[in-house]
Amino acid sequence: MAKVYVFDHPLIQHKLTHIRDVQTGTKEFRELVDEVATLMAFEITRDMPLEEIEVQTPVSKAKAKVLSGKKLGIVPILRAGIGMVDGILKLIPTAKVGHVGLYRDPETLQPVEYYVKLPSDIEERELIVVDPMLATGGSAVEAIHSLKKRGARNIKFMCLIAAPEGVEILKEAHPDVDIYIASLDEKLNEKGYIVPGLGDAGDRLFGTK
Ligand code: PRP
Ligand code: URA
Repeated sequence: MAKVYVFDHPLIQHKLTHIRDVQTGTKEFRELVDEVATLMAFEITRDMPLEEIEVQTPVSKAKAKVLSGKKLGIVPILRAGIGMVDGILKLIPTAKVGHVGLYRDPETLQPVEYYVKLPSDIEERELIVVDPMLATGGSAVEAIHSLKKRGARNIKFMCLIAAPEGVEILKEAHPDVDIYIASLDEKLNEKGYIVPGLGDAGDRLFGTK
């Protein structure tokens, strides 16, 4: 069964509060999403495998650890997931980046896929799918389905804010995908927005409306 991790690190929580604030403008919103993505990447990589090598320090030889070369991929769900990519690449600069384009039909709330471009060796990579919001769960479920259809086997999902409804749907659809979130909010409203949430992540990130 999928595990759900809520990152309660004080820096993540502090920055998330400012992200939520309706007074926070596009520039600051973008910067804060980038910073939180970096902090979350730090937490999510906690279980990355290490191997021991020998290194010559100025003083002596030492046995020391390095990452054991697992291949990573970051897959933002367009549009809003893009806002989290650079923050993760700051810590994992060699990761490849794939894109899955989905939008949520405003009437039906069903995800509509319009673009997929992925690294060719996707089946060998550990993938982190990113999107600031997990609301009804439709977009995340569909994006991950799309990745699995193309051979992906090892997937984590990371978002800033999740609704309990979305978490349940995602766990049920993809029990092999662990979920990493900064906040588990209260509920969805009648328009499928997360309450209290942060509003429309794509619009706030890109200054559209
Ligand atoms: C938002 C958000 C998620 C999706 C979450 O994207 O970035 O992808 O909604 O909702 P769900 O869990 O109910 O599917 P949106 O559809 O607004 O597209 P955008 O990023 O292009 O603005
Ligand atoms: N998409 C968003 O951008 N915000 C929500 O609250 C729900 C879906």
